[in-house]
Amino acid sequence: MPVYNQPVKLPVQIQSFDEYQEVYAHSVSKPENFWAEQADTFYWRKRWDKTLEWNFTDPDVKWFQGGKLNITENCLDRHLAERGDQAAIVFEPNEPGDPVITLSYRELHAEVCKTANALHELGIGKGDRVCFYMPMVPELAISVLACARIGAIHSVVFAGFSAQALADRVNDADCKMIICSDYNKRGAKNIPVKQVVDEAMAIGCSTIETVLVHKNTGGDITWDPSYDLWYHEQVDHQSSECEAEAMDAEDVLFILYTSGSTGKPKGIVHTCGGYMLYTAFSFLNVFQYQPGDVYWCTADIGWITGHSYILYGPLLCGATSMMFEGVPTYPDAGRFWQICEKHKVNQFYTAPTAIRALMAKGDEHVEKYDLSDLKVIGSVGEPINEEAWEWYKEKVGRNVVPIVDTWWQTETGGMMISGLGNYSPQKATFAGYPLPGIQPCLVGKESIKENKGNPAEGLLCVKFPWPSMLRTTWGDHERCKNTYFSTVPGMYFTGDGARRDENGMYRIVGRVDDVINVSGHRMGTAEVENAIDEHSRVVESAVVGYPHDIKGQGIYAYVIMGPGSHDLDLIKQEIIAVVRKEIGPIAKPDKIQFVDALPKTRSGKIMRRILRKVAANELENLGDTSTLLNPEAVESIIAGRDI
Ligand code: WTA
Repeated sequence: MPVYNQPVKLPVQIQSFDEYQEVYAHSVSKPENFWAEQADTFYWRKRWDKTLEWNFTDPDVKWFQGGKLNITENCLDRHLAERGDQAAIVFEPNEPGDPVITLSYRELHAEVCKTANALHELGIGKGDRVCFYMPMVPELAISVLACARIGAIHSVVFAGFSAQALADRVNDADCKMIICSDYNKRGAKNIPVKQVVDEAMAIGCSTIETVLVHKNTGGDITWDPSYDLWYHEQVDHQSSECEAEAMDAEDVLFILYTSGSTGKPKGIVHTCGGYMLYTAFSFLNVFQYQPGDVYWCTADIGWITGHSYILYGPLLCGATSMMFEGVPTYPDAGRFWQICEKHKVNQFYTAPTAIRALMAKGDEHVEKYDLSDLKVIGSVGEPINEEAWEWYKEKVGRNVVPIVDTWWQTETGGMMISGLGNYSPQKATFAGYPLPGIQPCLVGKESIKENKGNPAEGLLCVKFPWPSMLRTTWGDHERCKNTYFSTVPGMYFTGDGARRDENGMYRIVGRVDDVINVSGHRMGTAEVENAIDEHSRVVESAVVGYPHDIKGQGIYAYVIMGPGSHDLDLIKQEIIAVVRKEIGPIAKPDKIQFVDALPKTRSGKIMRRILRKVAANELENLGDTSTLLNPEAVESIIAGRDI
């Protein structure tokens, strides 16, 4: 085993706006030098030969080629000498009275090694895919890291997705194993997680050899001895040492599925070296983490935010990272703030939808608690509206704590545009400036030319590679190329629209494609339509997002039924049930309007622009409808709208 007797080095931590400007200038004038200097702070089994090779045409991006590393040696082993006894993960359970579980770096290292040994014994090796369907419990963190330890590729599926959605993801990546829990405690609910896995297996997951079941509540489950195994029976007796697999910098670390404008969700592929560097670098700078701080990101590890900023980024930097099993409103709307007080949280990171939901419950829930340990509060996942921003700043940040509004995506791997702790100018609803090494630009919607001036607006693109960018979409490189690298030739296209103010600060306006953002959950309207169309009596449907006070966007479905008389209330219930079954409860429509026809262009395309306006109840400016194939459809849709 390698010996880690070197002091732990970390990437540069910027501590003034002047320093940011200097570092930024260097990072874009000599990107390879800049990132090589930062990458040199990590532990590499073998240093890389070539820092960067890229083109955005194929696309083909390789960082640190020839380098060998294991991300878990950097997350765990490297810290043992200096902070082996410091808390790495602090787990706050769903029930406020239940015991907190703290895992020191030494304990987490041992647990990860034990699970890694168990996975090995069960035939999992480098490059194999392991799917996760688990609640937010320490075993999730442990076994995700255990995969990385042995070079297996993790694919975490948010445990709110349906059996069908789980099976789709398992099959797309040909996973060999599913790791799940028996039940998931969320607020007052006890969700039968294993049962969903059973249903997915019944749908058909032919590549799965083992379902490893973590006993979370001990509730009753059904058991298939041909593939079910208890996690503890496989793990508990294992050795707490496990040699880490030396991975190529460009070997796949994980796949994470996310929704796009068309088709089924795609598996975004991230690789070891660049992802390691960038999640650590961005974590350190955006949150201005200092040794001894307690950091809490409320996301679920089923999403990219949990991957990058509960697990990898914080652990790479030797931070204490909290993990919360429950929901913000259980047992009451003060839970987040009670946890912040209890654990003396210094950095808090959540989504606007949670802020809005808690804001609506009244200030007394937040005013009750002592939040004076907070130094930075963050926002992620969707545009934050001004009212929520002001409330967060005043009530949670007591007007003294900076807000970091972090714009990024599953595809970017890490935060791209954001303030850096207290060192960046603050402006409500503006994410701010790009992080060092990130070269965003705005491209005209019609002209497809870069808008260079300030102020400007347009399609948000990135013109130079950064270490944690996606490398491909699993099993379908063409799709990666078409989705991200074809709209604006030579650039990565984000799918978002943005504005830049006179000082060069960015404000993200929102998606310009058919992706919607519901309570911070990203969803493709086409996916929801496909689910609705599974209902036997539905002829056609069209789904759009509309502004929703708490969720950011709600889901509005226009549905055409087949001939015959229908009990429409019953059909609505059935449609919701079908969506729950195909995707999961997070995708169920908030509003369903039955229509006779959908407005279409002469070439037969649905005019979504009009549907979006009607759903938003913005009827003044519907635009030109005379070119439609069936302008009369618009009138009847307006008359029957659900407001
Ligand atoms: C949106 C979540 C405005 C955006 C990390 C992006 C944001 C999509 C912000 C990615 C923000 C994320 N301000 N919009 N601070 N952060 N978004 O892949 O539309 O779940 O394209 O990644 O969320 O969602 P994803």
